[in-house]
Amino acid sequence: MLPTLLSILTALFVARAAPISINSTVVCSAGQCIQGFTNTTIGTILSSSNVPSDVILLPGQYTSTTNPQLLHQLLTSSSTSSSPSTGFNASALSLPLNVALQPGLAIYPQALYSGQAEFSALPTSPPSNSSPTPFSAGSIAMSSNLWIAVTAGSNRIILWDSVPDVSQLPGISSLSLSAVESNACSPQCSGAGVCSASGQCTCPSGFNGSSCEVCAKGFFGPSCQACPAGCTTCDDGISGSGRCLSSTVANLSSACNCLNGVCGSNGQCTCNAGWTTASNGTQCATCAPGFFLDGNGNCAVCELGCQQCADGSGICVTCKQGFTQDANDRTKCDAVQSVTSSGTVCPDGSFSNGSTCQPCSPSCSTCSGSTSNDCIVCGNGQFSLGGSCVPTNGNGVCDGSSMVANNNKHECDSCPAKCTSCGIPNFNVASTINQLQCATCLPGFVLSNGLCVESCPSGTFLSPTDNLTCTACSSQCGACVGAANFCLTCNGGQLASGGQCVSSCPSNTITSAGTCTTCHPDCATCSGTSFNQCSSCSSNRPVLSNGRCLPTCSKTQFFDSASGSCQSCDSSCSSCSGAGPSNCLACSSSSSVLRGGSCVPANCNGNDTTTATVVPGLGVCLSELVSVPQGSGTSGSVPLPTITGLNSPTAVNGGRRLAWWEILLMTLGCVFIFVCVLALFRRRMRAKRAKRTAAFAAAKNIDARGVGWRGKLSSLLSSISPFSRGPRISKEDKVALHVERLRNQEEERHMAALGELGVGPGLLAAPGSQYSRSVRGGGSVAADTESLYSQVTGLPPRAPVPRKPVNMRGILERGPSSSSRISGTTVSNVRSVPETSEAQRYAKSVEERDGLGPGGGGDTYWLVPAGTGTSQASRNPFRK
Ligand SMILES: *[C@@H]1O[C@H](CO)[C@@H](O)[C@H](O)[C@H]1NC(C)=O
Ligand SMILES: *[C@@H]1O[C@H](CO)[C@@H](O)[C@H](O)[C@H]1NC(C)=O
Ligand SMILES: *[C@@H]1O[C@H](CO)[C@@H](O)[C@H](O)[C@H]1NC(C)=O
Ligand SMILES: *[C@@H]1O[C@H](CO)[C@@H](O)[C@H](O)[C@H]1NC(C)=O
Ligand SMILES: *[C@@H]1O[C@H](CO)[C@@H](O)[C@H](O)[C@H]1NC(C)=O
Ligand SMILES: *[C@@H]1O[C@H](CO)[C@@H](O)[C@H](O)[C@H]1NC(C)=O
Ligand SMILES: *[C@@H]1O[C@H](CO)[C@@H](O)[C@H](O)[C@H]1NC(C)=O
Ligand SMILES: *[C@@H]1O[C@H](CO)[C@@H](O)[C@H](O)[C@H]1NC(C)=O
Ligand SMILES: *[C@@H]1O[C@H](CO)[C@@H](O)[C@H](O)[C@H]1NC(C)=O
Repeated sequence: MLPTLLSILTALFVARAAPISINSTVVCSAGQCIQGFTNTTIGTILSSSNVPSDVILLPGQYTSTTNPQLLHQLLTSSSTSSSPSTGFNASALSLPLNVALQPGLAIYPQALYSGQAEFSALPTSPPSNSSPTPFSAGSIAMSSNLWIAVTAGSNRIILWDSVPDVSQLPGISSLSLSAVESNACSPQCSGAGVCSASGQCTCPSGFNGSSCEVCAKGFFGPSCQACPAGCTTCDDGISGSGRCLSSTVANLSSACNCLNGVCGSNGQCTCNAGWTTASNGTQCATCAPGFFLDGNGNCAVCELGCQQCADGSGICVTCKQGFTQDANDRTKCDAVQSVTSSGTVCPDGSFSNGSTCQPCSPSCSTCSGSTSNDCIVCGNGQFSLGGSCVPTNGNGVCDGSSMVANNNKHECDSCPAKCTSCGIPNFNVASTINQLQCATCLPGFVLSNGLCVESCPSGTFLSPTDNLTCTACSSQCGACVGAANFCLTCNGGQLASGGQCVSSCPSNTITSAGTCTTCHPDCATCSGTSFNQCSSCSSNRPVLSNGRCLPTCSKTQFFDSASGSCQSCDSSCSSCSGAGPSNCLACSSSSSVLRGGSCVPANCNGNDTTTATVVPGLGVCLSELVSVPQGSGTSGSVPLPTITGLNSPTAVNGGRRLAWWEILLMTLGCVFIFVCVLALFRRRMRAKRAKRTAAFAAAKNIDARGVGWRGKLSSLLSSISPFSRGPRISKEDKVALHVERLRNQEEERHMAALGELGVGPGLLAAPGSQYSRSVRGGGSVAADTESLYSQVTGLPPRAPVPRKPVNMRGILERGPSSSSRISGTTVSNVRSVPETSEAQRYAKSVEERDGLGPGGGGDTYWLVPAGTGTSQASRNPFRK
């Protein structure tokens, strides 16, 4: 936001010479175009070779029917080019065209959207708390669903609508911009969120929640900063302090299945002294031989001379060779007294070599031999370690080990558990093991009072200087973190507030469990830490609504600071800065314009309701933007070029979408035409057949007139007409006629079947083609089961037609003995009918003529019921 405001600021302070229009222009809103001179730069400029002036398209929706005709011509012409002004997109000219400001605001140096605009896109970062940025503007255009907060004097004003003339706003002298926000989000974003034009709250890094109202895990404070690196737990959250409560620990022993040891780089565990692998496989989890688990969980060394002692009690289970268990203290093993052969008991510091007592090595205090390796109790300043005597350093640490001298046991003893090194400060002969102090700990343990513990006890904090030592908090703190005086809780009834101890919590906090927790940053005061538990609000989010502090009231309301609530605007205002009709920021009526904060009749220059109103979203009449020169001949005024289509309404021709019923009607029409064509074709074919039959009849001495329906008609006419000169038809001729009629019927069916199969005349004509053969073969039989098959064979039609091969020769050669429908009805009455019927002979003749002899007719075809199959293969009725 800050950069955005700054860019606006710098841009506005750059003095720009406003382009004064010299050339005439056409300015169009949806529904009206006016030719004249204008200073307006808003919208997009159309140029076309067909129009001698530039055409400025004001923001709005343009469709193919938008008036006037000029717009339609320009927007549908490919020769039109558009150059959008600042803040508008260079989109392709395609209808419907939406000329709209990009999400954001454009500030014009002059009124009526004139001069070079500065566009400021919707910010993508939350508003900073910096002071508002002063700016000067003549007019302001805003995209939809956007508001800007400006301060004018001490007033905070929300602008929701474009301002055609800033000087007409109610009592506003100088403006400062404090926020630009999209109004598309519901619920509104919290202060950190940025509402996008699409209605999503965009959270800055570290924030979370649908309104960006909380910090993500590991982030703290009002700006949701990241917790310090290396923190496992941190005082996070939007009310948190960000103090590290526990650090991430590297090289934990558990990483190598180890309890009291240090993991090496190779994954090996090096046990602290006294520890070894337990029976369950965990390394350094049980006490090594010679050590026992004491009451504090440490592996302590067994008493001198004891080889193995019991966990817990330390009672010796096995004494070393030369030792016997002490009768009084069963943890101890006493050395067997050294006696000479003469019975003399050798005193401490000597041993018996058999015959006499010999002195020990100087390094031993008691011994079993002469060398320094024979010590039982080491001499002064030396301690037993693994069978030999070693000296210590000043802290009692045995040389060459991490163990510490135990004066009581005369041995080097192990450090307590979790200590990786330890010592006894200012070690001397009087030092006791109780004075032991751990110096370093296993990873993950901290040093408290000389011991390694898991966490610092209450009243102490982990010193940041070494991340190891627990250090006392200062006296006023009950608990502290990070520093001795950063109190988390306070002593003496005080309250911890931001590390300090106070007697009462500050106003933007709430008291809970002895601490003051800061309110959500949206709130001024609160009853809880959530963003919807505000009790009062700050000036940049003044509106308290359902526990939330919001930056604005709704569009038709203003914030009344006196009552601290949202109040409705006057009905004449679409947005306002205060009560009454004189505090409007924009007008609710499309026939009003803003004058000094009041909405007055616009008196736009237009002939109908669409053009006599203010341009939607701009709050100004189109006629106000354009000055039309009155009269001609005046000096200096050039006559305007003639432009057609300025005043004529859009004539739309075509392009209308067809309704479903229109499409249906058209389809039906097509089907009808097709059927007609088919009928014509069938008629022609029938005529051809009739001709052929005539020839056949002539050969048989049958009158050609008795062929087909025309023949029938003419014979009928001649039979009933008294003027008929024709010879009377003999009985034989009648029979022939009847046969012909039957055959014609058959052929009609045949053609119908062909039509069903989609066999065209061209295909039929091609001899030897698959189709012509099919037609001769089983085609008609398959297509019409009651046609040639039953008529020729005399067998009753079978439905459905069996899927079996049909032997055409068999069919054709079948004699009249079989009961034929033809012989059974008409033909059988005629004596002269030969062995084979006329139809059969005809079929045969056709076959022979087509060169398909009886052998060819013997071809076998599969008959498949037509149209019953679903697969492509089964639809083919002639598949071999
Ligand atoms: C006016 O029009 C002429 C010719 O089209 C052009 O050269 C000139 O730049 C225009 N002037 C302005 C101020 O647009
Ligand atoms: C354009 O600006 C000039 C100079 O500021 C002014 O004289 C003229 O009236 C303006 N024209 C319109 C149509 O506003
Ligand atoms: C405008 O242009 C910008 C960048 O070119 C693009 O991201 C945006 O979607 C466009 N907006 C519209 C409404 O076309
Ligand atoms: C953000 O909030 C969502 C839903 O509450 C949660 O699932 C997610 O883990 C959170 N992210 C962080 C980083 O806290
Ligand atoms: C952890 O172990 C690695 C390798 O053994 C070593 O380089 C590193 O310093 C260790 N880190 C700590 C904090 O001990
Ligand atoms: C193995 O035994 C030790 C000591 O008996 C115990 O502390 C540790 O938790 C055990 N480990 C597992 C994995 O059970
Ligand atoms: C014991 O020591 C004495 C004195 O040095 C020596 O005379 C004697 O031989 C030694 N006895 C044995 C068995 O070594
Ligand atoms: C202590 O731990 C913190 C956080 O892990 C780290 O920033 C700091 O450098 C450490 N200090 C020392 C002395 O290691
Ligand atoms: C509007 O009326 C004026 C005169 O009243 C006329 O000159 C103009 O052509 C009319 N415009 C339209 C679009 O009818």
